[in-house]
Amino acid sequence: MSLVLGIETSCDETAAAVVGADGEIRASVVASQVELHGAYGGVVPELAGRAHLEALTPVLAETLRRAGLGAGRPGLDAVAATVGPGLLGSLLVGVSEAKALSLAWGLPFVGVNHLEGHLFAALLEHREVDWPLAVLLVSGGHTLLVSMEGPGRYRRLGATLDDAAGEAFDKVARFLGLGYPGGPAIERAAASGDPGAFAFPRPLLGEGLELSFSGLKTAVVRAVRARPEATNEDVAASFQAAAVEVLVAKLCAGAEAAGAAGLCLAGGVAANGPLRAAVTAAGEERGLPVLLPSRPMCTDNAAMIAAAGAWQLGHLGPSPLDTPADPALGLAFVP
Ligand code: KG4
Ligand code: ZN
Repeated sequence: MSLVLGIETSCDETAAAVVGADGEIRASVVASQVELHGAYGGVVPELAGRAHLEALTPVLAETLRRAGLGAGRPGLDAVAATVGPGLLGSLLVGVSEAKALSLAWGLPFVGVNHLEGHLFAALLEHREVDWPLAVLLVSGGHTLLVSMEGPGRYRRLGATLDDAAGEAFDKVARFLGLGYPGGPAIERAAASGDPGAFAFPRPLLGEGLELSFSGLKTAVVRAVRARPEATNEDVAASFQAAAVEVLVAKLCAGAEAAGAAGLCLAGGVAANGPLRAAVTAAGEERGLPVLLPSRPMCTDNAAMIAAAGAWQLGHLGPSPLDTPADPALGLAFVP
C-alpha cells in the first residue's frame, strides 16, 4: 500500500501527516502558531517563517512516530508539500524540507496546491461521492465556489470580489476586540447574542454567483459607531447571521447552476457551527447529500495535502524538484 507524507506550512500552522492511498490517515500533527501571532492581532509573516523552521522537524518526527514509521528511511512512497498559495517565507520552509527529504530518501516529490488540498479534505472522510459536487471553499485568504466534477476537475462558479469570508470574520472580531483568530471568537460571542439585533446587508444575495464581504464589514463598523451601547454578542450574532445566509444561498445557487449531486464545504470557515447547520438543513430541503469535513479537516492540516498529493502522484506523476513556491498560485479550472 502506498503511503504519502504531506507537509503544510503555507500560513500559521506547521503540519505533517501520513496518508495511505486508500485515504486512511495514519498520522496527522498540527502545531498552531496562534499564540505567537495573537499578540499582534494577525499573522506576522516574518515570525511565521521562523516559527515554521523551528517547529517543522519536531512535527515531522512526531508524525513518523505516530504513523509507526522509522526516521531513517521510512516505508513511504512520496513526499508532498504545499507549494502555494500562501506566505512565501512560510511556503519555502515546507517546500525545501520536502525536497530535501525526497532527495535523501530517493522518493518522488509532489508539489500540492493548498486550495486543492482543502477540496480534498471532505473526500478523505467521505468515500462515496456522486459528482459533480458544489463546493464552497471559505478560508482566511480565499472564498471560492466550484463545481467539483471529480478529483482534479474543478469548474469555477464564483468567488469573492473583495475580502475572503474568513478575513471578514477576522476583521470584525479585531474591530470588536475579540482577538485572533476571529472566526472562532465571533462564533463564541454570537452564541449568546441576538442575530436580529442589527439588520446587516446580505451583499449580492440573489445576484449571481460572485460574493462580496467588504461592504458587510464596513456596515458592522458603521453600525457599532452609531450604537456604541450595543453588545459584542449582538453584533457578532447579527454579523454571523448575515455572512451565513449569503454563504448558504450562494452554495445552493451554485449547486443549482451546476446541476450538482451534493453540497460540500471546505476551508477554515467551514468549521463554523451555524454555517454547518444551515448547509445541512439546505441539503435536506433539496434532497442533496451534504459532505462536511470534520472541524480539524476544515482548518489547515497536512492530511489534506497528503491526500491531494497521493491522487496527483497517481494521475499526473511527480513534480520536478525545481518546482517553485508560488505565493499567488491559483486553482486550475476546466473550461
Ligand atoms: O483554512 P484556514 O485554516 O487557513 C487558510 O487557508 O486561510 O482558514 C482560516 C480562517 C480564519 O479566517 C478563521 O477566522 C476562520 O478560518 N475560521 C472560522 C472558524 N474557525 C476558523 N470562521 C468562522 N467560524 C469558525 N468557527
Ligand atoms: Zn487553508
